Amino acid sequence: MTNEDVKKALSKVTYPGFTKDIVTFGFVKDINIDGESVEVTVDITSSAPEVANQIKTEAEEELRRAGFKNVAINIKQPVMPRESSSRGKNIAPQIKNFLMVSSGKGGVGKSTTSVNIAISLAKKGLKVGLLDADIYGPNVPRMMGIEDIKPEVVGNKVLPIKAYGVEVMSMGSLMEEGQSLIWRGAMIMKAIEQFLRDIMWSDLDVLVIDMPPGTGDAQLTLAQSVPVTAGLTVTTPQTVSLDDSKRSLDMFKKLHIPIAGIIENMSGFIAPDTGKEYDIFGKGTTEPIAKEYDTKVIAEIPIEPAIREGGDGGKPISYFYPESESAKRYAKAADEIWDFIEEINKTGGVDNQAIQPTTPPGVSACSTGAGASHSHQGGGSCGCH
Ligand SMILES: Nc1ncnc2c1ncn2[C@@H]1O[C@H](COP(=O)(O)OP(=O)(O)O)[C@@H](O)[C@H]1O
Ligand SMILES: [Mg+2]
Repeated sequence: MTNEDVKKALSKVTYPGFTKDIVTFGFVKDINIDGESVEVTVDITSSAPEVANQIKTEAEEELRRAGFKNVAINIKQPVMPRESSSRGKNIAPQIKNFLMVSSGKGGVGKSTTSVNIAISLAKKGLKVGLLDADIYGPNVPRMMGIEDIKPEVVGNKVLPIKAYGVEVMSMGSLMEEGQSLIWRGAMIMKAIEQFLRDIMWSDLDVLVIDMPPGTGDAQLTLAQSVPVTAGLTVTTPQTVSLDDSKRSLDMFKKLHIPIAGIIENMSGFIAPDTGKEYDIFGKGTTEPIAKEYDTKVIAEIPIEPAIREGGDGGKPISYFYPESESAKRYAKAADEIWDFIEEINKTGGVDNQAIQPTTPPGVSACSTGAGASHSHQGGGSCGCH
């Protein structure tokens, strides 16, 4: 008996759900023949136990039929992502976890962070989506190099665009260039809901959401529509930015969103010529606030020209320069975020029941109460309890 005989036998085993067999797919890896015994390793792409079982049973059958007395089939498969244990309202139930990326104000690097964290999570082998919910300044398409791509429409659903291993959707991809909209409370709510319901996201492990700056209707609507597993705050080391960040952290608390951590962006400067790190806006100033909110600074990302160039040129540093110091810090932050999300799920998950609107449908609690946030760059705090 030869390897070819084994392959011939295994080519009768079709991959469940497909017409092709496991040999044609290239899933059959190691074959060890020892007299009448054979050991085969099959490396499949599905993490479903039923797929593994079916292949194992059929492969054993075929190899016995081919004349082997002792047959051992080792099935290798990707680790099954932990199911989310979250409860409450979820209008996108195929998505297991939601990561809300927030900042007190614009320009601190929220989109840059969202993009690089999403890519770093995908590089860990997770199924990742990136929703650009910053309706006021949707710049994720440019950063992901997909600004010229129009999404495909299937029936009344829109397919996300795939870039750098991440499924992406943005208001920027849906609008004509230069078109601008004036957003009112009810429109924001509708837009956020449509992003979750009418985009054909696949069964994602995590959807990273780049929120508009501030704490307003978009944040509240998102938290009411899906159970947000974790919040990530982006800040710069200056005090002004830190005051704003406190608002963002307060908002997570009010919305019952567990805080995965803070990213201190533009923290020092790495000179491209020498690789030396300089302190510009101050550095490490975020730590006390992290303590105050019982969380931690999970990355200090320096000002690095390659980050800005990567953003403007649609070539994110985490994808194109994985060996750079910043990419490594994003990767480490992504590890910490994912560990945090897993821990949240292990310990009962999140529940957004307590923050559901008590106002009539179509009217957000933010739009009615005092301190309503109709301002376009956020700033107002939502009046939820
Ligand atoms: N660490 C960094 N080093 C260099 N440039 C950065 C860094 N973080 C962000 N930028 C640049 O700063 C600008 C603002 O970042 P952006 O992510 O768009 O902020 P936000 O989404 O918070 O408004 C962009 O041009 C971006 O490329
Ligand atoms: Mg942005």
